[in-house]
Amino acid sequence: MPKILVSRKISDLAEEKLKNEFDVTLNLKDEPIPETELIKIINDYDGMISTGFDKIGENFFSNLNGKLKIIAQVGVGYDNISIKSAEQKKIKVTNTPNVLNEAVAETTILLILAASRRIGEAYNLVRSDNWKNQKPDLTKFMIGNSVTGKTLGIIGMGRIGRIAAKSAKAFGMKIIYYNRNKLSEELEDGAKYYSDLNSMLPDCDFVSIHTPATPDTKHILNASTLSLLPKHAVVINTSRGSTIDDDALLDALENKKIYAAGLDVFNNEPNLDKRYLKLDNCFVLPHIGSATHETRLAMSMMAVDNIHCFFNNKPLISKVI
Ligand code: DGY
Repeated sequence: MPKILVSRKISDLAEEKLKNEFDVTLNLKDEPIPETELIKIINDYDGMISTGFDKIGENFFSNLNGKLKIIAQVGVGYDNISIKSAEQKKIKVTNTPNVLNEAVAETTILLILAASRRIGEAYNLVRSDNWKNQKPDLTKFMIGNSVTGKTLGIIGMGRIGRIAAKSAKAFGMKIIYYNRNKLSEELEDGAKYYSDLNSMLPDCDFVSIHTPATPDTKHILNASTLSLLPKHAVVINTSRGSTIDDDALLDALENKKIYAAGLDVFNNEPNLDKRYLKLDNCFVLPHIGSATHETRLAMSMMAVDNIHCFFNNKPLISKVI
């Protein structure tokens, strides 16, 4: 019976399903396994179910003894895994695309609304019981910017970007996008394409990042690109922290070069740059884009199904390599 390591707690049903077919080691403490520990134990296993918390880099792969055959990541992103090293060692890697599109799109809309309507400030005011000390001034008290009818620029019009666009249209938002390639008319669904990011940014009331973390997308929003946004613009990020240069975004927020930001992802999570926490115009979440019961179950099941397919010589459901 193949031995499978599950590096973090996944949904109960998925664990049960896995146990029916494999010799499974669960992470009962549900604490991230330190890299050195993972490297020590992994050579006992034929397969691994991983999450973005695991550091599966060159070190991990160079210490393998040949037993491990597949890593099934619970997550669409796999920037924690050295794909090049996995390829060299002929280890299959799978991820969980599509099942989280709607959840991440919901989070995108949540951030758009929260950042533009000053929800962080408003919520803190009520929770700290300071509402009663405020003058309810009709033109000043918690006045934000409307979302309805505004233009949303999407960087990376993939599966998640397109669902976010569809949801944003419910608020009458106009969609424009920057992508490596222009999409078919059907996939564009009325959105306007820009082949050049710098040309799109001045036209954005909101800009939302939906690209994977790659060397090409690192700091795609930096001092120079951020300077092209209008002063009332709002930056949204549900992708990966590495797409934003923190110093540049913090400067833009602190000096009111843009209106606000709504961020679910950060560089060096969970130890985000503390300067973000001081800003009223930055609404922050702890990387919960896909965190719904339904979505995490679907993601867990997909990883388990990939393991099942691999050890039963069936085509993988969602192969990275
Ligand atoms: C993903 O699937 O990559 C999300 O960020 C959740 O980790």
